[in-house]
Amino acid sequence: MRFLKTAAMAAIAGTLLAGSALADDVKIGFLVKQPEEPWFQDEWKFADIAASEKGFTLVKIGAEDGEKVMSAIDNLGVQGVQGFVICTPDVKLGPGIVAKAAANGLKLMTVDDRLVGSDGEPLADVPHMGISAVKIGETAGEAIVAEIENRGWDMTEVGAIRVSYDQLPTAVDRVEGAIAKLKEAGFPEANIFDAPQARTDTEAALNAATVVLNKNADIKHWVAFGLNDEAVLGAVRAAEGVGIGADAMIGVGIGGADSAINEFRKPEPTGFFGTVIISPKRHGYETALNMYDWIVDDKEPEKLILTSGALALRDNYQDVRKDLGIE
Ligand code: GLA
Repeated sequence: MRFLKTAAMAAIAGTLLAGSALADDVKIGFLVKQPEEPWFQDEWKFADIAASEKGFTLVKIGAEDGEKVMSAIDNLGVQGVQGFVICTPDVKLGPGIVAKAAANGLKLMTVDDRLVGSDGEPLADVPHMGISAVKIGETAGEAIVAEIENRGWDMTEVGAIRVSYDQLPTAVDRVEGAIAKLKEAGFPEANIFDAPQARTDTEAALNAATVVLNKNADIKHWVAFGLNDEAVLGAVRAAEGVGIGADAMIGVGIGGADSAINEFRKPEPTGFFGTVIISPKRHGYETALNMYDWIVDDKEPEKLILTSGALALRDNYQDVRKDLGIE
């Protein structure tokens, strides 16, 4: 009897030891689709903070296309990583990513861009943190409407550039949110022009917006919105290229990382009027922490967390960033 009791105690102690040893050995992957974009740099920065607080190793990998995603996941498996967070370059890779993660015995969470299945529906079983895309798009739209009114423009004479990336559901939700608010205020649908970007960066947006501006050279006042700050910056740069400056362009982006801030820091205002600041802290720090808790305590993250945003303009962006805890 006494022997059994001792053995049981030893087993419990062993389990406890194994538990704490595991905490020291935790390795978490963080894969992003566009490592050069300031938003993703910030996500990594905040995930790194979680790593140093909890003492786990963070393996950061830029995975710009499907092939890189698949080899990166195998790579994580080989390195003894237990789980990873990913913003995929293509949400349609969903079932492939899920299978690859399972084959390597890795826990999987997504951030920013939610995986979809072959039917185009979100893979609801994979825990996800994204932005409340429609609402944030609406905030951008409301800011544009308020500034159109502030400038006393006649809406029938204003053109709107919808910088679009329609293969990404969150991108559609964001621009449609903005459009809903424009229409609600009486903005004519016929004045909204689609500028499909080939990639989600400033250069691709600039190219797409230039086509719209050239086709509609008679319109003198413009507004622009899109997936992120890069999209809107592309439209603003395109407008500058055809002689449309800050007084004739109202661009409102989404993001609030360095892409936007560098613009606000310019000595003279540009057509980049504002941005809806979202939180790379929540998306980087919190997702990494959720993954850590999942690995160490078997506490599965919530299936869906949608984060909010706050409008910031040139003269108040520092305060808004402080309020969001990202300064
Ligand atoms: C997408 C965009 C990024 C950023 C995130 C925020 O991934 O491509 O620029 O806006 O969403 O969730």
